[in-house]
Amino acid sequence: MPLILSVRLQALADRVPRGEAVADIGCDHGRLSVCLAQKGCKVVACDISEPSLAKARALRERAGVSGMETRLSDGFSALRPGEAHTAVISGMGGATVAQILRAALPGQVERLLLMPHGEVFRVYEALADGGYAVTDEDIIWDAGRPYRLLEAHPGHMRPPEDEFERQFGTVLPAKRPREWKPVLEREIRLRQAALAARARAGLPAEPQEEAYLDRCREVLACMKD
Ligand SMILES: C[S@@+](CC[C@H](N)C(=O)[O-])C[C@H]1O[C@@H](n2cnc3c(N)ncnc32)[C@H](O)[C@@H]1O
Repeated sequence: MPLILSVRLQALADRVPRGEAVADIGCDHGRLSVCLAQKGCKVVACDISEPSLAKARALRERAGVSGMETRLSDGFSALRPGEAHTAVISGMGGATVAQILRAALPGQVERLLLMPHGEVFRVYEALADGGYAVTDEDIIWDAGRPYRLLEAHPGHMRPPEDEFERQFGTVLPAKRPREWKPVLEREIRLRQAALAARARAGLPAEPQEEAYLDRCREVLACMKD
């Protein structure tokens, strides 16, 4: 049974090499796990919820794949060190992803593929504290929504220099993918509206906010269409 993944899950799957030992943390429906098993990976599909694992097992049976084990696990807790070379964590809020990373790092895996929903700065902080560095980042648009895909490896990541780096790290500003442009434009609109609301309420301007907006505009101005 060929499995068609959503754009965001396919982007994650594309970064996992064939035959890789991989943990899918928070696998839920199991679509990513099954797709990876179909390409010859040895998959440990983990979830904190037994009903989610039941869905993943049902999909595995329908797809008729081998090489995929399901495991009840809070984050990495049921994984043995070295069992997975790559771990994927996607579809959870940034605070949950950060919490899972803080309980597991340093150690565990050589490659992390992360797609947190919001509060990415928390994930950056947990990675840096756990001795991992973001080596690549992309913006994936799926059904009209942008998703941030982070790849991280053991390494050093310096603390952010300013609010802009805290929010967007250092890889996106260096790489400037065109998919990032609408995200920045929206960020500028939202922050400008917040500043205007402050001014209308008679509150003083926040220099940090102004500096952040300036950095967003500066980066946007250097981006191609
Ligand atoms: C919205 S689903 C995401 C499914 C899939 N990863 C995706 O991106 O489409 C989130 C899943 O994470 C699981 N989850 C939440 N916290 C977890 C934790 N601490 N450890 C393992 N799984 C967790 C939930 O039970 C749920 O099945």
